Amino acid sequence: MNRKYRKTIIAGNWKMNMKPSDVKPFADELKNIVSRAKWCETVICAPFVDLPAAVKAFKDCRVSVGAENLNENPKGAYTGEIAADMLVDLGVKYVIIGHSERRQYYGETDISVNKKVHAALEAGLQPIVCVGESLEQRELGITIELITLQVKTALANVSADKVRKVVIAYEPIWAIGTGKTATAEQAGEVCCAIRAVIRNLYGARIARAITIQYGGSMNEKNAAELLAQPDIDGGLIGGASLVPEKFAAIINAANQE
Ligand code: 13P
Repeated sequence: MNRKYRKTIIAGNWKMNMKPSDVKPFADELKNIVSRAKWCETVICAPFVDLPAAVKAFKDCRVSVGAENLNENPKGAYTGEIAADMLVDLGVKYVIIGHSERRQYYGETDISVNKKVHAALEAGLQPIVCVGESLEQRELGITIELITLQVKTALANVSADKVRKVVIAYEPIWAIGTGKTATAEQAGEVCCAIRAVIRNLYGARIARAITIQYGGSMNEKNAAELLAQPDIDGGLIGGASLVPEKFAAIINAANQE
């Protein structure tokens, strides 16, 4: 973390867990156990149907709400899809874009990620753009090249003014839901490389101000060590974000003086 230059953001990604009726009990419990997040912003990214309840329940505990996906078009005949404006209208602030599960199961590509980033920024949502390599790609030694390409494509034609709103989440696919975390050094190295890509594209001032998260089996035990890396400015947390005590412990780790 480097709180002097950028915001630390701890974000939960509930994925396809938690029903609308689960939201309030979770928020009430979290409120009771989390210490005041002085140094970091907390976000819960929830399934679409949970969002109205989440916006309501998290309002008075300073937790922002995010969606897990959006459609790249502003409106129209796209049955079953959700547009950025609809999310903004609900009070949603963030949106996860290009999670590896969407790339793997729903055919999302770097190009569709770029379109969604533009749609989100246009509507005033803050995208959390996910990038990450598979185990095979890591073993081939192409992690940095691959991540560079993912970041460059995701940010293609995004202006310097708008890129300040973008959060990048480095999520090695082999670490997601596996209990296998990247070491702090491995995660720190890739997050540092991501910042270098942004520096090349937008200059040092903007690169210094962008929040880069780590995601992949982050939990209450390893959070402090990961967050101690200078280029890791928060976490995108799956499993541990479903349990208020675990999620609160991660927030508290990000809030250490
Ligand atoms: P886990 O924390 O369950 O590994 O999930 C990480 C993730 O995919 C967050 O987006």
